[in-house]
Amino acid sequence: MRGVGMDRDWLDGMLGAVPLPLILIGEDDRILAANTAADDIIGAAQVGRHHAIALRQPALLSAIETALRDRVGGQARHVILGPSHEVTYLVTVTPMHGNGGVLCAFQDITERELVTRFRRDFVANVTHELRTPLTTLIGFIETLKGAARDDPAARDRFLTIMEQEAGRMNRLVDNLLSLSRVEAQERQRPAASVDVSALINAVTATLAPVAQEADVVIEVTGGDTTLPVPGDADQLTQVFQNLIENAIKYGASGGKVTVVIHPPGDDARIRIDVIDRGEGIGARHLPRLTERFYRVDDHRSREKGGTGLGLAIVKHILNRHRGRLEMTSERGKGSCFSVFLPRA
Ligand SMILES: Nc1ncnc2c1ncn2[C@@H]1O[C@H](COP(=O)(O)OP(=O)(O)OP(=O)(O)O)[C@@H](O)[C@H]1O
Ligand SMILES: [Mg+2]
Repeated sequence: MRGVGMDRDWLDGMLGAVPLPLILIGEDDRILAANTAADDIIGAAQVGRHHAIALRQPALLSAIETALRDRVGGQARHVILGPSHEVTYLVTVTPMHGNGGVLCAFQDITERELVTRFRRDFVANVTHELRTPLTTLIGFIETLKGAARDDPAARDRFLTIMEQEAGRMNRLVDNLLSLSRVEAQERQRPAASVDVSALINAVTATLAPVAQEADVVIEVTGGDTTLPVPGDADQLTQVFQNLIENAIKYGASGGKVTVVIHPPGDDARIRIDVIDRGEGIGARHLPRLTERFYRVDDHRSREKGGTGLGLAIVKHILNRHRGRLEMTSERGKGSCFSVFLPRA
């Protein structure tokens, strides 16, 4: 092999042993060698072709050019369209001693970039969610110190709103704490045994006043037999509390919320459905409901004091329990949220 000074098989063997995609480019601009991991990037059988035809993206081509002509190494981002999503690589371009070639090593940084973006969005969302009630509070404090100082009726009205806004901030902080706690425990399976039937009956009793206020009747079927599962009682309470509360909040127009505890069959899992007959949820929203701060109707959720974190917490708790959440819904007819929990 010209210029490489090494045996072809040896070179191919060495490149092939490295799991990172590697492409070696000769001083004549042609691809000298590539390992199979590089097939995803340039396709198979590219050896001998001009590298610019296979690689195409300006940032990487310019880094290769610099390495070939000036013998100076560098890095470039290279994005390709994978089978299901974009894959982002950080490519390290290094001039090889002894021959005029250049080695390109591709490191997949897709996940790292996603995590960074996720963290940035999350901080932006939290800031926004906290700032809204805070701005309201500051505004009313100003008014109470000034114009409304001697107006008892206005003062009472403003204090009520301030109480609601402070309550919202409090719930937000509580939910953020729950979320980070569940996330931290996600790999740690809960050890205690929890009776799901008793737990659901307790949750519906707690929510009875909320249901009454919304003119909703809660009906539980199958709640009279004990149904032990390995679980964390507080967290499972949070799951059903949020699902049933959502059904009341967003399904009130249906007048009735039904919780069906399915009798355990041969299946290793148990299933609980929370069904409402309210407005339902459009199909395009369903897959995104468990994202943090995702709401179908921003205004309505906020009006009801929602933080938009409930279902994200539910998902993490069920992950920790090796369980699952399924949702079906039809606009105008209502929704069904099904919880699956393993029995052992
Ligand atoms: N049963 C339901 N019917 C219609 N929409 C629903 C239902 N359950 C949830 N949603 C929609 O999904 C969104 C996310 O629900 P989630 O429980 O995560 O947040 P939230 O209820 O707004 O806030 P929080 O749970 O903190 O009170 C809601 O804002 C609502 O738009
Ligand atoms: Mg909720």
